[in-house]
Amino acid sequence: MSTNTNNLPSVEALQNLANQLFKALPEDAPKEISFDPYEHPRATAFAKSITGQGIVPGANIPADDALVQAGVPAPFALSDPFGVITAPPSVTGLGASSPVANYGNSNDIFPGTTGTSNYQSLENSPFSNNKAPVSVAGSGISPSSPDYSTKGVAAPALTPGYEQTKSDKSTLSGGVPASVAGSGASPSYVHQQEDFSIKEPVTSFPDANIDKQTPGKQQGSFALPFTDEQPYWSDIESILKFININDPAIGSHSQTFSTIPDAHTPSFYFLQQEQLPVSNSALGGFTHGFDAYKIKKDFPILNEKVNGRSLVWLDNAATTQKPQAVIDRLSYFYQHENSNIHRAAHELAARATDAYEEARKKVQQFLGAKSPNEIIFVRGATEAINLVAQSWGDQYLKGGDEIIVSNLEHHANIVPWKRLADKKGLTLKVIPVDDDGQILLDEYAKLLSSKTKLVAFTQVSNALGTVTPAEKMVAMAHAAGAKVLVDGAQSVSHMPVNVQALDADWFVFSGHKVFGPTGIGVVYGKEDLLNSTEPWQGGGNMIQDVTFEKIQYHKAPNRFEAGTGNIADAVGLGAAIDYVTQLGMTNINAYEHALLEYATHHLKQVPGVRLIGTAAHKASVLSFNLKGYSNDDVGKALNREGIAVRTGHHCAQPILRRMGVETTVRPSLAFYNTCEDVDRLVSVLRGLAK
Ligand code: ALA
Repeated sequence: MSTNTNNLPSVEALQNLANQLFKALPEDAPKEISFDPYEHPRATAFAKSITGQGIVPGANIPADDALVQAGVPAPFALSDPFGVITAPPSVTGLGASSPVANYGNSNDIFPGTTGTSNYQSLENSPFSNNKAPVSVAGSGISPSSPDYSTKGVAAPALTPGYEQTKSDKSTLSGGVPASVAGSGASPSYVHQQEDFSIKEPVTSFPDANIDKQTPGKQQGSFALPFTDEQPYWSDIESILKFININDPAIGSHSQTFSTIPDAHTPSFYFLQQEQLPVSNSALGGFTHGFDAYKIKKDFPILNEKVNGRSLVWLDNAATTQKPQAVIDRLSYFYQHENSNIHRAAHELAARATDAYEEARKKVQQFLGAKSPNEIIFVRGATEAINLVAQSWGDQYLKGGDEIIVSNLEHHANIVPWKRLADKKGLTLKVIPVDDDGQILLDEYAKLLSSKTKLVAFTQVSNALGTVTPAEKMVAMAHAAGAKVLVDGAQSVSHMPVNVQALDADWFVFSGHKVFGPTGIGVVYGKEDLLNSTEPWQGGGNMIQDVTFEKIQYHKAPNRFEAGTGNIADAVGLGAAIDYVTQLGMTNINAYEHALLEYATHHLKQVPGVRLIGTAAHKASVLSFNLKGYSNDDVGKALNREGIAVRTGHHCAQPILRRMGVETTVRPSLAFYNTCEDVDRLVSVLRGLAK
């Protein structure tokens, strides 16, 4: 049956089904059915014969209810207590909603070519902007740069030792996976050992509960969350009373960046209001008019059962789950657009090039950059930082220069700088934090001098959740004459970012942490700076002309995109950006802030919990230890209840050691999480604490 993007039957599919049913009935049955049951008394009688209830003609029952009573699942079963949702929560067409890409106006990599491609077959593509693409394909003109064609590489043969038959899997025992934190091994491998099959990987653990589960019967060793308490919405309502939407922690971004695209984009999920009320919309788990339960339905993986329980994904700082719109976009790319880009005069090269460059434009708008030329696609934030260190850093820094990082940094924003410092005789200095994990600005000011050439710091700490005073820190660095790199890996999915307001020289993030695919990330860099920096890697795509005597490079972004990039995942990232833009980053920020307050409030009350990282301004992350248990034990207990969190050092050992610990348990929130998810987490911890 065809479904909409929420995997619910489409109206057409239901109607088709009903038509088939009634065509199969004896001659006096109706031949067609509409959704108005009162036009079809025989249909009503038929429904009654199935359900024993039927529909009383003339009774005021909505059409969908008639179908429910006839045993057909209602397409939109969620209630809407505020009556504000007038359209189904479909995200179909999100990919088409972005502004038209016109990168051709500002991109000079194909001089002399014009957008003449015959793009007819894509005009009705759900992802097409229905504009003639600006591309060399179909123009009859080859790209000016000489190129090599990619040699066909045979698919690697499977290693025989890794093969496994289906029956092998039956020997797998159930239970909780061994922790793999820091081991470099996958849980499946640790669990299956030699039985691991690359052909048929068992990607979840055998679920002892799933077959035995009795409907309505609670599985697992813990009681229903908070059966002895008021429902959670009374808690959140009382917390929200103290939240002021104009508080800088919530409101500053929406005030500063009022021109972000989502301010003008209608959304299916939200009240269409300028200023969303906070406390009024807290009832029933609805906050800021933001319905996380409906949003959850856009993420198919959130329907998974783990150990017989619905999956609760609280490992968002490690990676985020993907909405159907992103999955569909990737699939569409490979079905209709796949080609190498910037290289050929054929139709698919035009489609792929346009899709890729449109994604670049979406990233530009998402970050508020001046030009798409300032957006470089890389593998992720780690590669992004290494690119800056090994290109700009290697070119411009010399012995005696100083680099400043903060104590909060992820290893990805320490190791590349330390390596560069060791290689070139630079000094690496560290901005200290207080006991709550907040940047000590006075100490930072003391570190800055004319020797400081670079300050690199995170906008949100992955281990503690601290939101740093980024704009102020950038301004202080610039006043000292230093360049600034801001690591946005943990911020872009939680708050609006505007790189022009931030004024960082580089800003980096990973696609997979903002609901996009893995293997794609972004370096934003100021255009002049990028064009005055030597390329990082050399190869195809980044050159204008090559002779054995002399090589001319393209300007940014191609200057930094040697070889065939991750085209499909860049396109997928564009779809993820469309998705979060539709939700609205300001809305996401406000909702998550309320949820974090709620979670912090309850977590703090669990006996034996010590929160690690208690900054006044935090996003998403709740790191903690539980007295009497190792972090690994807590992670396993949560996994038994279907709750995913990260345990370990979170690739940020210096900050955890500063806080007096080696590792923590780290739940991390996203906008699809609910108070109920938090309740389940807290319930397990309470069970352990007893
Ligand atoms: N950097 C990611 C994390 O914090 C992987 O978990």
